Amino acid sequence: MADNEGDILVLGIGELASPMGTTARKGAAMRDIARIRDAAIVARDGVIEYAGPRSGLSAELVEGLKPVDAHGMAAVPGFVDSHSHFVFAGARCDEFIMRTGGASYMDIHRAGGGILRSVAATRAADLDDLSRLAEARAWTMVQQGVTTVEAKSGYGLDRDTELRQLEAARLVGERVPIDVVPTYLGLHSTPPEFEGRPDDYVDYVIAEVLPAVHAQGLARFCDAFCEPGVFDVDQCRRFLSAAASLGFGTRIHAEEIERSGGAVLAAELRAASADHLLKAGIEDYLAMAAADVVATCLPLTSFSLGASHAQARAMIDSGLAISLASDLNPGSAPSGSIPLAIAIAVIYMGLSVEETLTALTLNGAAALGLAFDRGSLEPGKRADFLLLEAPSIDYLPYRSGVNIVSATFKDGSMVYRA
Ligand code: NIG
Ligand code: FE
Repeated sequence: MADNEGDILVLGIGELASPMGTTARKGAAMRDIARIRDAAIVARDGVIEYAGPRSGLSAELVEGLKPVDAHGMAAVPGFVDSHSHFVFAGARCDEFIMRTGGASYMDIHRAGGGILRSVAATRAADLDDLSRLAEARAWTMVQQGVTTVEAKSGYGLDRDTELRQLEAARLVGERVPIDVVPTYLGLHSTPPEFEGRPDDYVDYVIAEVLPAVHAQGLARFCDAFCEPGVFDVDQCRRFLSAAASLGFGTRIHAEEIERSGGAVLAAELRAASADHLLKAGIEDYLAMAAADVVATCLPLTSFSLGASHAQARAMIDSGLAISLASDLNPGSAPSGSIPLAIAIAVIYMGLSVEETLTALTLNGAAALGLAFDRGSLEPGKRADFLLLEAPSIDYLPYRSGVNIVSATFKDGSMVYRA
């Protein structure tokens, strides 16, 4: 197929669809994407040299490349899943069934279930188990067109297990053709050894774990779960400010179950993203838009919790940049299905197909600080792209819940074919 690793010429693309640029697209600009009929892509050494109408190809551009025929399939940038907790052990299927019977996520959390059960299972798993479980999940993502994924820790809550989770994430990036962006989720829950003493746990995290994660270079971002009954704004600010002073980017689980100030804190810290936002309001949207915080919506979580979805339409209309991500985790979002997330975004959250594509590609990349080199099909960007078993991107929500990814290309090499 390719003459050299990362060199490729794709012809016969029925529709090439992509947002454009190297920063998050905000507000009305999210709709403004290129949709080009009869298109071609040229990449060399894993980097795009040309993406546009076939008529724009020159002899020089295609020299030495053997063409691949896309047979009228649509091409889009690889998906960037900017919020995922896919490194964990154990399952919590019983809690899911309890929720379908009426128990709430926070009832289960307060009763010692929820995150702490996954912490117990993850503490008991060694590096080999943990990395193999995560590796299998990462391959499912590649099949669904994800070429870059975030990996949060947060199921260890002690130094060694947090480091092990981040090390497992690093191994996945080595073994699977997907870029893994690691996040130290230091404040996810207060572990049993600090029960009732969340402030002492925050002290421990800042004194013992954060410096170790920093010294080993195992994370690019730090994250906190800002929620009444979990961590408050002051605790999150203390941890995330310490992280920022060491050079980490920051992000926050904010306004998920109750509105408690996480979104405004994200704006104050100029965090890369604030995520969930089910209960966020207009003041939050305006503060985040002014501070260039990406608003990450997680449709699979609200779906699985039976909760109302984030007001993504209102967020975009307020000028925010939205990204869409899986939130894959064993509790609130066990699905991880990108096709289902797309269907919910378009059918229930009021996003257009164009906005949905921007949210899953360029704006996801921006939420991870990577919009400079991925998230769109343009010269100079990494050749991470998908061929869809469909003539246009309108089929993404139309085939609701069905994976129509026919091939995934990472750095110009085909790494998955249906
Ligand atoms: O993003 N909200 C906090 N963290 C996860 C849930 C983690 C879990 O339940 O295991 C989330 O929804
Ligand atoms: Fe999450």
